[in-house]
Amino acid sequence: MTRIASRVSQLHGEGALAVYSRAKELERQGRSIIHLELGEPDFHPAAPVVEALRTAVAAGRDRYCSTRGLPALVEAIADYLKRTRGVAATGEQVLVAPGCKMALSLAMMALVEPGDEVLLPDPSFPIYPSFTRGLGATPVAFGLEEKNKFQPDVDEIAQKVTPRTTMLIFNSPNNPTGTVFSDAAMEKLAVLARKHDLWVLSDEIYAVAPVEVIDAMDLLVLNTFTCAAEFTQVAAIEALRDSTSAVEAMVVEYRKRRDQFVSGLNHIPGFRCQAPDGAFYAWVNIEDTGLSADQVQRVLLEEAGVAGIAGAAFGPGGKNYLRFSLASARRVLEEALERIQRVSLHWRAAISR
Ligand SMILES: Cc1ncc(COP(=O)(O)O)c(C=O)c1O
Repeated sequence: MTRIASRVSQLHGEGALAVYSRAKELERQGRSIIHLELGEPDFHPAAPVVEALRTAVAAGRDRYCSTRGLPALVEAIADYLKRTRGVAATGEQVLVAPGCKMALSLAMMALVEPGDEVLLPDPSFPIYPSFTRGLGATPVAFGLEEKNKFQPDVDEIAQKVTPRTTMLIFNSPNNPTGTVFSDAAMEKLAVLARKHDLWVLSDEIYAVAPVEVIDAMDLLVLNTFTCAAEFTQVAAIEALRDSTSAVEAMVVEYRKRRDQFVSGLNHIPGFRCQAPDGAFYAWVNIEDTGLSADQVQRVLLEEAGVAGIAGAAFGPGGKNYLRFSLASARRVLEEALERIQRVSLHWRAAISR
């Protein structure tokens, strides 16, 4: 009998996409919806990047190319990391993937064996535990708790290391909390990883890794998608050059959105939100509303037309939280706050009792 491989049954989806589908359905019924569920920026690439892409396509840059990425892009990435982060990576430690999930899954396919244990944050990006299970390994969660300002408790992580633990995954700034891990926490994590000989998979968009890992991932690329599309890589070189300082302008705008939205959320009865250090998410504690996060998510979407995500989508630690994306313009965020304020009548009466 034909069958689907059992590893697929170990994978799960993303809560954000489920909320997005329902929000789209409401829009089809004529409802006005403010989309704060997906982390999809409203910015588009800067004009020189679009122009570089257009020129590359017109010039026929649609050929197979190196499985590791165009040499000029690989060098540009290594240079960018040196310039902006002080990371001394060489070109041979870089691999270009078509999207971050692909880079993550290549690294995990190269390094994780069935039966391994993989340490990862709760809450975190839902694909980490999903893909871990898909590879026949076991995700072991460590908490990022509000009482610790969502910083990792490295002593707790140390207690969770067993002889089967092979990898530690995190991303900083974290999705969904926006926490930038402190230098002290990073140093302790490095000591822990060295002590137990763990791989550290830090989700930072580009795949930079020791050469032997890049070699393994390279073979996986060859066996799966061959290479990232050439013209997108040409545009990526231009994006890293950032000749119009578009990144700085985006950071300034994101900061304004964060300050405006987080302050507004903290004025809504029952909501509590720490300002995130990075990323473009607001992670809001809704415990004081007396409702579950699922109920708040439903009231916001069905009655106010504001799509956010109940935090359990990012792990059990997200039970009393909602995540809102700040990837929309300030006037849109302002309207979202007004709408949320209006429907908060639902739980305000209960709070004041
Ligand atoms: C932390 C994190 N890692 C990876 C990804 C996936 O990135 P991509 O869409 O480039 O595959 C996302 C997307 O939301 C993310 O938030």
